[in-house]
Amino acid sequence: MNKQTETVLNYHNRTKHRLERYAKGPESIDWEDQPDQFRRFSGCDIVTLPKPGAELDPLFTDLDTPEIIPPKPLNLVNAGLLLELAFGLSAWKQYGPSRWALRCNPSSGNLHPTEAYLISTGNDFIKSGVYHYVSHDHSLEQRCQFAGNLPDSGILIGLSSIHWREAWKYGERAYRYCQHDTGHALGALRYAAAALGWSVELLAEWSDEDIAKLLGLDRTDDFKPLEQESPDIICRINTHADSKLLENTLDTNTDSSIKPPLPSGEGMREGFQKSVNRERQQYEALLESAQSGTWFGLADSLRAYHLYQWPIIDEVAIAANKPRTEEPEWQAVRQCIIKPTCTKTATAIIRQRRSAQQFDGKMSPLSQTDFYRMLAAVLPTTAAFEHWRWPPKIHLFIFVHRVEGLAPGIYALPRNHDVLEPLQAATLADFDWQKVAEAIPLYHLYSGDCRQIAKTVSCHQPIASDSAFSLGMVAEFGETIETAPWLYRRLFWECGLIGQVLYLEAEAAGFRGTGIGCYFDDSVHEILGFKDDKFQSLYHFTVGKPLEDKRLETLPAYGHLNDVV
Ligand SMILES: Cc1cc2nc3c(=O)[nH]c(=O)nc-3n(C[C@H](O)[C@H](O)[C@H](O)COP(=O)(O)O)c2cc1C
Repeated sequence: MNKQTETVLNYHNRTKHRLERYAKGPESIDWEDQPDQFRRFSGCDIVTLPKPGAELDPLFTDLDTPEIIPPKPLNLVNAGLLLELAFGLSAWKQYGPSRWALRCNPSSGNLHPTEAYLISTGNDFIKSGVYHYVSHDHSLEQRCQFAGNLPDSGILIGLSSIHWREAWKYGERAYRYCQHDTGHALGALRYAAAALGWSVELLAEWSDEDIAKLLGLDRTDDFKPLEQESPDIICRINTHADSKLLENTLDTNTDSSIKPPLPSGEGMREGFQKSVNRERQQYEALLESAQSGTWFGLADSLRAYHLYQWPIIDEVAIAANKPRTEEPEWQAVRQCIIKPTCTKTATAIIRQRRSAQQFDGKMSPLSQTDFYRMLAAVLPTTAAFEHWRWPPKIHLFIFVHRVEGLAPGIYALPRNHDVLEPLQAATLADFDWQKVAEAIPLYHLYSGDCRQIAKTVSCHQPIASDSAFSLGMVAEFGETIETAPWLYRRLFWECGLIGQVLYLEAEAAGFRGTGIGCYFDDSVHEILGFKDDKFQSLYHFTVGKPLEDKRLETLPAYGHLNDVV
């Protein structure tokens, strides 16, 4: 085992919450001292984006078949909408003198370590260069001006994380949460793009070093010590109908629907090859543009005292640094096999997404159709995963509490047929692995009331037991990390992506979800029977009927912009 792999595995084991002690975090928190949620760079030109809040026509159900959505033209209005629907504010909440913003993308502890950048490569509505998105102001700060246009016009989106923003509250475990948040942001970006008739292409070949160069994150003097950003992801936004690499075939064969499908159709393959070549050329051209460009601005201080420091986060970040890689090509997309019943627009669902703080533990059961639809929506060949280029490595173990027609108990949804047998072999011998649904690969393992267990293993949080169901996202872990230590991050991203799908699907069904980052890792493994690190639970989630906290006032997302004008 190489040194980096060892560092990542040590980090993972050391940051497990255990029933007898939580992972290392700050001993006390001064809430007045919370790091600024909104990064700003002083000394940049500001591009004010058109007024946020526009509604788009596509229904949430249309996002299952994004190729039927006419693509919106690429201009400042629609680029602004993309950023707003992915990373913008969705509301303000107020309780007494406290007021805090919520965003379309969720974040553990609402700390929002993820920063978003727009890269323009030759458009008439905005100069070519790199821009930092300020969600609070719905504006762009121009960090870099490229010397000229690139051969391909269009936009890219880059994501980075300020680890310290999360570590301020969560200490050593924060690095995991930053990765979850990146996955959620990637999911949010895909939904936003699909609502505009666009698609997201994850440029997974990029090394972290090169992403840092492109986004200007390697310019250490531009950032305060301990407040740097770590590079995560670069995506191209395809804004034309012909660049959507989709093959939609309605396939109700459940086994093949969870296997990574092969591209088919000569035209499709050719189109894809062109896109791969274009990608390679654009990689070099983008790097060159950033390196020869003119950079502006200095990151403002996040205005919080660095009382505690967590050097292990820097260590794992270095060990999980991604080099430049060759990546698999494309996976075909199939229509989701169960339709949602929702009649709302996509923009309405995206903006109403929230985390439930409390559930109605006496709710009438979630309908089986809605439950199966939510599970069908997280299968890897659905449109929500069109930008995810790898076979799935995350599988669901579900504590069913209140679902119509299903006995309460433990169920499994392997998202890849190939992993069914290894999962069966790794879990408790008592589990019966009875397939319970025709359309989706859902297996019954054990009948019994699991509410208390679910709550206990989720750091005693009642949201895990008062819901219709809660679940653990189990990763194919050991072998993946040994293949390459930076895949550690990708596992968490995949979890975040699944979480984002569940958040929106829950809203569409008239329910609500909440991500659960706080759980006792090895207690979950014990319940399922895992004895080693072949499989590890990396994220939890819960869905139920929310109880509103009537003490909280809800204010419009961008009302404050009107105040300024
Ligand atoms: C990775 C992640 C982990 C989370 N863990 C928990 C948790 O353990 N308990 C909880 O009540 N909420 C949890 N949340 C919900 C966040 O607190 C919530 O997203 C944040 O407060 C912002 O609120 P919003 O989702 O309504 O926008 C988590 C969210 C994410 C994305």
